[in-house]
Amino acid sequence: MAWEAVADLDQLEEGDMMVVEMKGEPICVVRLYEDEAVAVHNTCTHQQQPLNEGYLQEDDTLICPAHNSCFDLRTGEPRGVPAVSPIPVYACKIEDDAIWVDPEQQLNDAEIPHKPFH
Ligand code: FES
Repeated sequence: MAWEAVADLDQLEEGDMMVVEMKGEPICVVRLYEDEAVAVHNTCTHQQQPLNEGYLQEDDTLICPAHNSCFDLRTGEPRGVPAVSPIPVYACKIEDDAIWVDPEQQLNDAEIPHKPFH
């Protein structure tokens, strides 16, 4: 386990997102609610665009800004085309007035999405 505090709670308001690099991967941390935050890989599985530039929806999904793929932020599953593969979801918690992520605990079996030239 490798929990790391990525932000103080007052740095990330409800509905806000931020990107942190952990273990060489860009991870998008989203504060969904007062008491819940989630962490997903920041790379869309369609054409590898950054998801933190997308739009958070009221049903806790995130829309990719490039071609509107929609991802469930708790399961990583795509909710509609063009993306057909899930994004990795990582362990994330709110504790001691901070948001914590453990990039070594991936909660689903999604492959790490990389740009084609990687
Ligand atoms: S890159 Fe995200 S929908 Fe195309």
